[in-house]
Amino acid sequence: MNGDPTAPPNPLEALPLPQLRRRTSAKWREHPADVLPLWVAEMDVPLAAPIAEALHRAIDLGDTGYSAGEEYAHALARFASDRWRWRDFPTERTAVVPDVMMGVIEVLRLVTGPGDAVVVNSPVYPPFYAFVSHSGRRVVESPLTAEGRIDLDHLGDTFARVGAAHDRAAYLLCNPHNPTGAVHTRAELEAVAALARRHGVRVVADEIHAPLVLPGAVFTPYLTVPGAEDAFSLTSASKAWNLAGLKAAVAVAGAEAAADLRRMPEEVGHGPSHLGVIAHTAAFGEGGAWLDALLGALDGQRALLGRLIAEHLPQLGYLRPEGTYLAWLDCRALGVEEAPLDGIGIVSDLDGPARMFLDRARVALSSGHVFGTGGAGHVRLNFATSAAVLTEAVARMGRAAEERVERP
Ligand SMILES: Cc1ncc(COP(=O)(O)O)c(C=O)c1O
Repeated sequence: MNGDPTAPPNPLEALPLPQLRRRTSAKWREHPADVLPLWVAEMDVPLAAPIAEALHRAIDLGDTGYSAGEEYAHALARFASDRWRWRDFPTERTAVVPDVMMGVIEVLRLVTGPGDAVVVNSPVYPPFYAFVSHSGRRVVESPLTAEGRIDLDHLGDTFARVGAAHDRAAYLLCNPHNPTGAVHTRAELEAVAALARRHGVRVVADEIHAPLVLPGAVFTPYLTVPGAEDAFSLTSASKAWNLAGLKAAVAVAGAEAAADLRRMPEEVGHGPSHLGVIAHTAAFGEGGAWLDALLGALDGQRALLGRLIAEHLPQLGYLRPEGTYLAWLDCRALGVEEAPLDGIGIVSDLDGPARMFLDRARVALSSGHVFGTGGAGHVRLNFATSAAVLTEAVARMGRAAEERVERP
């Protein structure tokens, strides 16, 4: 890519489709073989060499016991310092948790009580709704702006409302934001922190996509923002290095949240897998060159996707993501409606445009309506795939949209 013969090759072009189809993960098992799967957040990449080597070493040693030590947090601290200029990363205020969503829920249990409100910016990663409500908290939406960014006025009003109504309220921030790919600026995060302080709302920042910030944007760790001292963040190598099957993540507490972190139940630390910790430590510690190759490739796919949409689906709205490998496509111009179920809810979690593209184009996307208010009529497309697959998928989607006009 940059002429350096030792640089890792483009990871998105390394694996042919027949080899990917032999995978047994959700991306490859949910749909039949004629479907191009661009839905769940898994990438079509081989494992980064330092991670594969660390795992092979562990297997050869039979090093498959319980996890110990603080290597994961130390590797993350070095990465945070190098990449995000987070020099005083508080390794002493971290806990290894089973994964980001379990970490989010355990932290929310520390800072809120049953029935308390948890504010989210819709549309947002669907498990924010399910996990939060299953843990007995109430999800309160504060929708994003039309540009897919935090609406600070709306958020302030929402904080005022939930702060007045609840002893303890929280805000589950997603940065970079899934599905719009917005990378919140330092100024936006400072405004969030000021609002949260004013209204007594505790912030929990899901920063799982943080290493996946694309050229042009800068990631600001929430805990480095003034006013965020009582907040928590959750980070993991699982998105950026495709390690969702190797469970581990890190919860980080701000200085004023140290006492809360100490109340984290012991059993939470029993969840992460030792092989997961080994893989994630290798990712943050030694996976930088591989990540750079990936980011360059994703930047290329982001541009390619923009060109493909302009060519095949010009009627769609495309919010060019600043981070993640997810694109949020506004398909409302296609006029494909999700089917409501007698006003009670939505029939299926695959509906509307995503259902149409699956049925007619044999391309699997994530259906926007499950991302909450503002999601209906949209699809989320995962572009962490080869140029050939992306090109074929969007061409098929374009033909399907045309045929639907001819034969509704
Ligand atoms: C914003 C966000 N949080 C959490 C997760 C899930 O992370 P984990 O598997 O570590 O729970 C995802 C996965 O795509 C995500 O996009």
